[in-house]
Amino acid sequence: MTPDTQSPPRPEQADAEQTTAPQNWKTIRFDVLETIGQLPSLNRVVGEFLNLARREIYTARDFETVLSKDQALVARLLKVANSGLYGRSRSISTIPEAVVLIGLEHLTKIVYAVSAEGLIRKNLVHYDFHPESGFWVHGLGVAHAASVVADASTDCPLRGDEAYVAGLLHDVAKLVIDDFLPEQDYDRVTLQHEVEAVGLAHPDLAEYILRQWNLPEPITSTVRWHHDHENAGEWRLAAAAIVLAQEICNTWGVGRWSRLDVAETMPVDDFADLLAVLNIPDSRWEQIIWDVRQRLVHLDTVFTED
Ligand SMILES: [Fe+2]
Ligand SMILES: [Fe+2]
Repeated sequence: MTPDTQSPPRPEQADAEQTTAPQNWKTIRFDVLETIGQLPSLNRVVGEFLNLARREIYTARDFETVLSKDQALVARLLKVANSGLYGRSRSISTIPEAVVLIGLEHLTKIVYAVSAEGLIRKNLVHYDFHPESGFWVHGLGVAHAASVVADASTDCPLRGDEAYVAGLLHDVAKLVIDDFLPEQDYDRVTLQHEVEAVGLAHPDLAEYILRQWNLPEPITSTVRWHHDHENAGEWRLAAAAIVLAQEICNTWGVGRWSRLDVAETMPVDDFADLLAVLNIPDSRWEQIIWDVRQRLVHLDTVFTED
């Protein structure tokens, strides 16, 4: 497969920039706050599902009781559960089967992805994602890669499923900012462009949004620091997991090009600094890339078709 749009910016260009945004939410423009208030929040059923998943004792039927309140959600869940992404030889036709056959951790990721789909499957005008679902595919790609990286780093404070959610939502504020950026030719939208347009850069605005939605602290803080992991204190490794996930995805053009091309090799030396931050030995790199590739290879067919 060959890329059909211009090459994406190299990760170091896209992500090395430090946010200069003031740490003060009062700088957010009032009409921006209004727009945030109008965003569809994550599905209410998802909150109930996650509370159930945290209980020590549950049955597969309990999940069916909660999720069946939203039949459209169940239909999408089963479609994704039966897709190549979670490849099963046996097809899954009910929620209890999904819990048993693909496991609660995978099901949790699918619940998040499906419920966030209505929110972040929007095409952005000013950012350099592919015009057809590129922003959505970028979020999914970073989610899968971040969960693999977090699981590979024993010191990372995020569990794999938390890293997945942080990856899925890391650029959520771009949804809002895109509407407020002045019309001009952007070679690349920078954090400074964002501050000038709405008063905050997208990592800071994302923190505001995710706190409004009551997402857990590890997820909110990881997203807040995903462009500045060196200064993230206790969330340094968590934010570094998102940075590494994003570098992997950018190297493969995930969400930038219309088709995924996960064949490009990734020399470990290019990622040695981040692996050192995450305390992941270089010897694990090939396995990490293999695992990420397995998860991404079906993304464009699963999530870009209805
Ligand atoms: Fe991103
Ligand atoms: Fe970002």
